[in-house]
Amino acid sequence: MRKVFTNIKQLLQVRPKGLDYVAGLSMSELPKIDNAFLAIQEDRIVAFGKMSDYRPKQHDQCIDAHGRLLLPSWCDSHSHTVFAANRSGEFTDRIKGLSYEQIAERGGGILNSAKTLQDTPEDRLFKQALSRIKTLEKLGTGALEIKSGYGLTTRDELKMLRVIKKISKHSAVKIRSTFLGAHAIPEAYKNDKSAYIDLIINEMLPIIKKEKLADYIDVFCEKGYFNLEDTDRILTAAKAFGLKPKIHVNQFNAFGGVALGVKHKAISVDHLEQLLETDIEALKDTETMAVALPGCSFFLGIPYTPARKLIDAGLPLALATDYNPGSAPSGNVNLIVSLACIKMKMSPEEAINAATINGAYAMGVSDDYGSITVGKKANLILSTPMESYIEIPYAFGNNPVFKAVLNGAV
Ligand code: NIG
Ligand code: FE
Repeated sequence: MRKVFTNIKQLLQVRPKGLDYVAGLSMSELPKIDNAFLAIQEDRIVAFGKMSDYRPKQHDQCIDAHGRLLLPSWCDSHSHTVFAANRSGEFTDRIKGLSYEQIAERGGGILNSAKTLQDTPEDRLFKQALSRIKTLEKLGTGALEIKSGYGLTTRDELKMLRVIKKISKHSAVKIRSTFLGAHAIPEAYKNDKSAYIDLIINEMLPIIKKEKLADYIDVFCEKGYFNLEDTDRILTAAKAFGLKPKIHVNQFNAFGGVALGVKHKAISVDHLEQLLETDIEALKDTETMAVALPGCSFFLGIPYTPARKLIDAGLPLALATDYNPGSAPSGNVNLIVSLACIKMKMSPEEAINAATINGAYAMGVSDDYGSITVGKKANLILSTPMESYIEIPYAFGNNPVFKAVLNGAV
């Protein structure tokens, strides 16, 4: 099955093979072809170029993209899309003045989500999550990382990971799975955190490896959750099980989590709302991607990740949604790209790079996703009519997606 898009107003994020991510000044370049065509064979991009160079070949479907942009789907490298119930009650508590930390101290927060998830059967979780992902498809997401972390018992962490695995088989969105057993200290272990870490290491990790349930390991490295020593222990153990780190650090407090992630060759360090000069230094000349989650900053009213400091230091930055019921109940990457421009002073080019090619790197899928490159998967966004890609972040709250293309299917 061959498909071709013709008369594309702007074909965005056109990259050569083998480019994994863009950093520093290069983030301000968004290579594009005006008045372009793009051809797909089955689920892969096979050709593209200027319309003036287009030589029609036998094809099954031709889509006239006149007045529209075509770009790679969003790669959302950080989400908690599997959860059992929303936490809208906490939302109203926060409006009345309670902070995220205060709500957690009262037994709300992650432990609240764990309670409801533990009571929800696997098939129900699966259906709920799949329906959320259907919504995300229409918003242009073509690759999505999903974490466990609301189970907090062996049975329920495995249940979450099995749901994620099943989703990856049923969804055209590329899924990556992350084990986040160390998301919070369960009530039953509140006086013996070390015993919970033992459970993660000795009981959960071996089964996860045996059943191939996760691609990455995550830890919520934060005051009141897991400290540097705990995080080091878990990441060290996970390495023996073949899991690379992708960790929550510096959300509320900066105390060396970034350097620890780098030491463990983390593929990404995520959040970074609190960032020290030493954190920036630690990231230089490493393979670790910084990931900002502006939806969380917006929703909780906490500082935004200082994107300018990171990019101006020559580093790469990715953007993700953090989609979860407590701190970011939206998986809409279009809004994230707007927030990055409006609140973090990223240029539209930087923000689009951060949500495509750099996002793909942060979830380990850049061989196949994140750019318009011959041989990559045809996961694409065909936009609503617009003059330029600048309108994507500019028209915040709008959905710029006219059609989502997933594995070559429109
Ligand atoms: O990335 N900070 C830790 N985890 C999530 C929030 C989880 C929750 O509140 O349910 C986050 O913000
Ligand atoms: Fe998160």
